[in-house]
Amino acid sequence: MSLEFLLFAVDDHGIATLTFNRPAKLNALNAGTLAEFEQLLAEVRNNPAIRALLLTGSGDRAFVAGADISEFAAFTPISAQRQSEKGQTLFRQLETLGKPVLAALNGFTLGGGLEMAMACTVRVAAENAQLGQPEVKLGIIAGYGGSQRLPRLVGKGIALEMLLTGEPISAQRAYAIGLVNYVVPAPELLSFSKQLLLKMLAKAPLALALTIQAVDVGLNGSLADGLQFEAAAFGLSAATEDMKEGAAAFLTKRPARFQGK
Ligand code: COA
Repeated sequence: MSLEFLLFAVDDHGIATLTFNRPAKLNALNAGTLAEFEQLLAEVRNNPAIRALLLTGSGDRAFVAGADISEFAAFTPISAQRQSEKGQTLFRQLETLGKPVLAALNGFTLGGGLEMAMACTVRVAAENAQLGQPEVKLGIIAGYGGSQRLPRLVGKGIALEMLLTGEPISAQRAYAIGLVNYVVPAPELLSFSKQLLLKMLAKAPLALALTIQAVDVGLNGSLADGLQFEAAAFGLSAATEDMKEGAAAFLTKRPARFQGK
């Protein structure tokens, strides 16, 4: 697959790194970027050799500075609605990939950039990152899930403050409100992020996928529905070879060798 707007590489651990690569435009999401992103998400989902996805941005200024504002002039109400639905669908695919996804935020994480990061499993920010939903400054609202995922992650009051002022917050404040899991010095961002993913990848792959799904089901429905799904998924996980391996490894005091079966 030839890529114009993204870089993509898979390491020996099965961690795929996808880099948004338009640094001169602070990696803003134009139509071409979204199209390539959609193709790569399918590759990550379908390729069993890829076990986790790490998202980051090119350069030292931005993760993603939002949707590409130069494409807004052509919007009609209907085309803008379609665009919003397209972005929502894409980020929902990211959220339900069935593999851990980490957003490594190496600078401006604005608008669609923050909305993408919030659809990831976990977020790690460099100290220089700034996070925000500035859409109201442009006369629009967050359209790729921001009005829904931000309050779920940080609570209604802080989410509304960020969505209504449009002002970015620092990485440290993002950490304080639970919007990012860690803040690290910029030079350590990628190595720290990979170490965090490796901690997950040392565990049973099916249990990881079922856990991501159980949290998702519960947050999208009632507690009762979530508990019901959890019990069924627990039953499924208890029937895997990895469960036998995990228990045997513990009892014989050796590291587990999970196969994802
Ligand atoms: N869409 C399109 N282009 C963007 C962009 C976006 N979301 N964000 C940045 N760019 C472009 C700028 O137009 C500029 O291009 P140019 O050099 O061809 O003029 C380049 O990226 C660098 O940005 P610039 O604004 O010059 O950098 P800065 O350091 O002065 O400011 C920001 C950085 C992030 C504060 C500023 O670029 C900004 O506010 N961007 C828009 C963020 C936004 O509203 N995102 C949500 C969109 S819904």
